[in-house]
Amino acid sequence: MKRKMFTLAIGLGFLAGVSFADHHLKLKPLPDKPPEPPDNPTTPAKVELGKFLYFDPRLSGDGSTSCATCHDPSEAWGKNQVMSPAYPGNEHFRHSPTILNSAYNSLMFWDGRVKTLEEQAKKPIISPFEMNLHYDLMIERLRAISKYREMFKKAFPKDKEPITLENTVKAIAAFERTIVCNDTPLDRYLRGDSNALSKKQKLGLKLFTGKAGCIQCHNGANLTDNKFHITGVPKSKAEDNTLTKITRNFAIRQFGFDNPYQFDRDLGRFFITKNPKDKGAFKTPTLRNVALTPPYMHNGAFKTLKEVVEFYNKGGGNIPNKDPRLKPLNLSEEEKSALIAFLKALTCENIPQVEEPELPEFDEN
Ligand code: HEC
Ligand code: HEC
Repeated sequence: MKRKMFTLAIGLGFLAGVSFADHHLKLKPLPDKPPEPPDNPTTPAKVELGKFLYFDPRLSGDGSTSCATCHDPSEAWGKNQVMSPAYPGNEHFRHSPTILNSAYNSLMFWDGRVKTLEEQAKKPIISPFEMNLHYDLMIERLRAISKYREMFKKAFPKDKEPITLENTVKAIAAFERTIVCNDTPLDRYLRGDSNALSKKQKLGLKLFTGKAGCIQCHNGANLTDNKFHITGVPKSKAEDNTLTKITRNFAIRQFGFDNPYQFDRDLGRFFITKNPKDKGAFKTPTLRNVALTPPYMHNGAFKTLKEVVEFYNKGGGNIPNKDPRLKPLNLSEEEKSALIAFLKALTCENIPQVEEPELPEFDEN
């Protein structure tokens, strides 16, 4: 028994102290095709319909806001502003993440409250500060457009009444599963092309998987462990705007709290689990294409990758319940710059671009 404990201690010591490049913490190339649920196989007809719906602002109450408003194809399918856009008259309380490669995520949203793209797509449509549309009104609108009646029929040929909420989100999710890319220098390097990374990027990779310890949370093919961690990201100024506080307080009530005023900031996963241990925990986001999607973190607190690396170099934020994996890193200027160079090797050469469809009109009277 004693000997077993001793071996275990050595094993743990090795993992913690020497290297994180342990075999269960690996970076992997991203597979060509994302997984798809058995009840929603991707077909060209569904993808085409999903593309129209993604760009159609009539999925919002006043016809102003589509998915593309906040996940903009020309901004690497994200939005380069601190807080996300919002339904007119509101300010959002979270930064808008990219949907590029979200098909590989097993957790959606910064707080991971939803697991699939299908379930995810239902949320913004009905959210009063995102698209603000009642599902039944959406269905009536879609049924009043002959081109959509045709496209839904083609995409869901077995259904007697194909225009439903479930089929709407299935089509959008199928479209999102085509907004993927894996032609990054890192993927080429991991597939065996040793020249795909520059010398500096190779040093950055070594730091990422070693001294800087990033791989402890950012690992696997999508550079996320699909878990939640408390990193202590500082509050961003926008969080104290009155209109931002209004949407945050509203959301906190929706998550089931009677008194949102007891919280002066976004506590992420805690609002979902109500477990005090989760206060300030957020999902580890992918780092793919991160160079294209500033600002960073759930609240857009950091403008540049340099600011992010400085934050980790200090050992993360200054809060008591922080993840113990975060410690001061003592990186030299050269090492910080190599780490940033490595993060830039996670950018796809060909970000998927789609031509914005010409949307069909409502039926004539
Ligand atoms: C008004 C802005 C806005 C609109 C419109 C909007 N979103 Fe989002 N989206 C966001 C924000 C902000 C988040 C993160 C919210 C959170 O974490 O609570 C998000 C999260 C997501 C995610 C999760 C990504 C991840 O990595 O966690 C997906 C996927 C997504 N949106 C797809 C869509 C689709 C599809 C539509 C249209 C049906 C849509 N969004 C409409 C702002 C918007
Ligand atoms: C303890 C787990 C953990 C470690 C270690 C870690 N991260 Fe993170 N990372 C996260 C979480 C969680 C977030 C999101 C935090 C938030 O939004 O408040 C994040 C966010 C980021 C972002 C912002 C991504 C975006 O789209 O906004 C970057 C860039 C990043 N990390 C890079 C790194 C680098 C580089 C290292 C190593 C120096 C590292 N991380 C180490 C958990 C970790």
